[in-house]
Amino acid sequence: MNILLTGGLGFIGSHTAVVLSQQGHQVTILDNLCNSQIGVLANLEKITNQKLPFYEADVRDTQMLCKVLSENQIEVVIHFAGLKSVSESAQDPLKYYDNNVGGTIGLIEAMQVQKINKLIFSSSATVYGIPHYLPCDEDHPLAPINTYGKTKLQAEEIMRDLVVSDPAWSIVALRYFNPIGAHESGLLGEVPNGVPNNLMPYVCQVAIGKLPHLNVFGDDYETKDGTGERDYIHVMDLAEGHLAALNYVNHCPGFEVINLGTGIPCSVYEVIAAFEKSARRTIAKKVQPRRSGDLPIYFAKADKAKQLLGWSAKRDLQTMCDSSWKFQENLSK
Ligand code: NAD
Ligand code: WQD
Repeated sequence: MNILLTGGLGFIGSHTAVVLSQQGHQVTILDNLCNSQIGVLANLEKITNQKLPFYEADVRDTQMLCKVLSENQIEVVIHFAGLKSVSESAQDPLKYYDNNVGGTIGLIEAMQVQKINKLIFSSSATVYGIPHYLPCDEDHPLAPINTYGKTKLQAEEIMRDLVVSDPAWSIVALRYFNPIGAHESGLLGEVPNGVPNNLMPYVCQVAIGKLPHLNVFGDDYETKDGTGERDYIHVMDLAEGHLAALNYVNHCPGFEVINLGTGIPCSVYEVIAAFEKSARRTIAKKVQPRRSGDLPIYFAKADKAKQLLGWSAKRDLQTMCDSSWKFQENLSK
């Protein structure tokens, strides 16, 4: 199938591009490079041994989107393009509403013009907010506690209303938990702008000496070892989940939300221990006060993905750390 990946040079989009290309799909990428580098395209083409049509453009440019959709006879869109920093969304909410919600509206309008009605959307577990129960299933109350999560929920609500207005649409919103890891080649991975906010890229930079130590944000939570627990999922498992969702949107009209997680919570100390095994070195760390807005623990109930998509995560934490370290070593060469 002809598939457009908006934000396809980003961390998750680029890994999904590999999986889809290797399954014989024709992947087109649109990205404004606000949080990725053009060099990712060359690595993608090296891995897939294919030339991938690429457009440096913004999803909010509806005219350009119509051109891309038409020129490449796109049949399905996977919408990765979005800003994802919780802290930045608090500092600049309008930027996040414009980009994440406005961008989604612009994309859907262009799809309507081109009569394309199959869409897979990158949503987030942050739409759940503070857990009322765990594991989080898709029926958990939706109460995001930050602007970023609100933009993801609003985009979902727009899609839900769209499907009610026109049942010909087939949309799946995938709620990712904590994606980490990298492609086995070591050519693709997570390359954050500036000092990383997230745990794994920060640990990687401590391991290569770019940062002096890891700040452990709290060791006094009611968790297995006092540190925060999360549902880390290998980015390649996530990419394969999109392939499964693609098959689903091809056969099932309507709107569905589906968690993509492992269902296995891991603590910060467990991640550090696994990573130290991968990198064969000690990660210097200092316990700091809890980070504002952090939850003690959250993780997915992953049954619906298994039932509807026939998909479940296969890779364990050690594999995630091994692949992250291999990418970081490559990056540092
Ligand atoms: P990323 O920043 O690596 O990739 C997003 C890509 O979209 C980047 O290449 C960026 O340049 C591009 N982009 C952003 N705004 C754009 C716009 N207006 N027009 C065109 N391109 C634009 O992030 P990621 O980790 O790959 O996440 C992909 C999607 O998944 C995002 O929507 C994010 O909110 C969501 N998500 C990510 C995580 C995570 O922890 N990484 C978790 C849940 C959901
Ligand atoms: C994980 C754990 C921290 C950094 C974020 C976004 C979420 C989603 C995934 C987009 C926590 C601890 C972290 C550090 C630490 N992104 N930590 N020191 O906060 O679960 O989720 O990324 O959708 O929206 O909120 O991920 O990697 O920042 O933190 O101790 O330097 O690691 O306290 O327990 P988080 P994270």
